[in-house]
Amino acid sequence: MSEEIVYRRYKPGDESGIVEVMNACFDTFRGYGLNTEVWLDYDRRDPGFKKEEALVAEHKGRIVGHVQLVFREIKLGRKTFITTGGIANVSTHPDYRGKGIATKLMKMALDRCKELKIPLSSLFTGYGYVAHRIYRRLGYADTLFMTRYLAEDEEVERTLEMLPEDPSVRVREYREGDEEGMLKVYEQHIEEYTGAIRRDLTYWKNKLIDIVCYHGFFAENLGEAARVLIAEKNGKVTGYAYFFIWSKARKPIIFSKEMGILTELVASDIKTLASLAKEALKRMREEKVKTFASLVPPYPPYSDLFREFQLFRETGIYMDAVVDQSLLFDMLCKEFSARLEEAGIRSEFRFLVESPYGRTLLEVKEHEVRVSEGKADVELRFVDMHSFVRMLYGIEGFADLLLKGKIDVRRSDVKFQTLLNTMNALFPRMKWFIWPADHW
Ligand SMILES: CC(C)(COP(=O)(O)OP(=O)(O)OC[C@H]1O[C@@H](n2cnc3c(N)ncnc32)[C@H](O)[C@@H]1OP(=O)(O)O)[C@@H](O)C(=O)NCCC(=O)NCCS
Repeated sequence: MSEEIVYRRYKPGDESGIVEVMNACFDTFRGYGLNTEVWLDYDRRDPGFKKEEALVAEHKGRIVGHVQLVFREIKLGRKTFITTGGIANVSTHPDYRGKGIATKLMKMALDRCKELKIPLSSLFTGYGYVAHRIYRRLGYADTLFMTRYLAEDEEVERTLEMLPEDPSVRVREYREGDEEGMLKVYEQHIEEYTGAIRRDLTYWKNKLIDIVCYHGFFAENLGEAARVLIAEKNGKVTGYAYFFIWSKARKPIIFSKEMGILTELVASDIKTLASLAKEALKRMREEKVKTFASLVPPYPPYSDLFREFQLFRETGIYMDAVVDQSLLFDMLCKEFSARLEEAGIRSEFRFLVESPYGRTLLEVKEHEVRVSEGKADVELRFVDMHSFVRMLYGIEGFADLLLKGKIDVRRSDVKFQTLLNTMNALFPRMKWFIWPADHW
């Protein structure tokens, strides 16, 4: 290349170059009609999206590569939210591929996370794509595959017959002011989930009311393609459902016109959940939807409600890289201590966690856990970055990894049963889920 490629952060005026390279690389953004106005709107609506956190590669004054950092507060465990440096819109102009541009921009994004003391970086991609291999080489692990429930009308008919009716639940259309109640139901719902994204009222209004996102970057208008149902019990919001009638989409991408897509279904109890699902499916049928997608967690009670649907595992995959292992563990110590206290476990030993991401010594004293220094009583070597990351989220527990031979226990001066009990309490299993609107 006759002139050097310059790598740098965003500066005003870059918008059109960024949009151009994104449109050249993604059918989705092109189909959505991405332009500078839409791009700048991301910066206004999404507090995690800051235009200053766009990275670009420039050649002869033209932007030929781009990576966007999107910050999200992601739940790790029961109570702890950690800021993750989300990676989005990784794009290299077709004429410039295979020259290491995306790799270099990704490394810059990881350095930026380090600089901001962000211990984790996360992204969505497709298994087996060029990008997937690039991410793996940079230390991103395969955390979890995406899933979706699909059904044709016949299965929906059976589902409608099966779902119970609760006369005490009133299901109605969304009204202005409902979002506070919806947020409360959401906050209660995510208590059981790891991976969930923290939201606040502004985020809710900007991304789930003013426009309705079915993905962080893609949205439709409320009342047109996007519909919201509210469940009410004794005048209180107890649940909500978001669904999209794709034949009405203004900017249709990805899905077929005959589709109805349930993108969020949350309620404080199973009966309300069933009432909402029933009403949403009924309304989709009234609007001549022929294929029904439900993007809900693949766990009970959803798996019971949608048991007539087919559950598909997709090539879509969520990946994480630990940027700073000791910092991450430090942020998790309060949660670890609470887990030991809850399990009634009091031990005293120091263990070294050695993973592809680094070495961290953790000290357990009574039920307090802290990052420490010095000699370890036991060394735990995690050889596989994928299972290590899954354990951090609770997608797999410590015991699962041990059984699979993914942990090498070395030089142990701790009784095996004590070690096992403590580690099982520290790394239990949890349900993992991120609702589509929060994706990036
Ligand atoms: C994925 C993408 C960003 C990679 O950009 P890039 O700047 O070519 O990536 P790099 O040069 O850093 O990575 C090189 C890898 O791409 C592959 N590659 C090499 N030459 C290539 C070419 N001419 N065209 C496409 N890929 C090529 C190789 O697997 C190479 O790996 P290697 O280092 O082992 O040789 C680019 O292909 C793209 O914009 N794709 C469309 C958008 C997309 O899918 N983004 C990811 C969304 S998650």
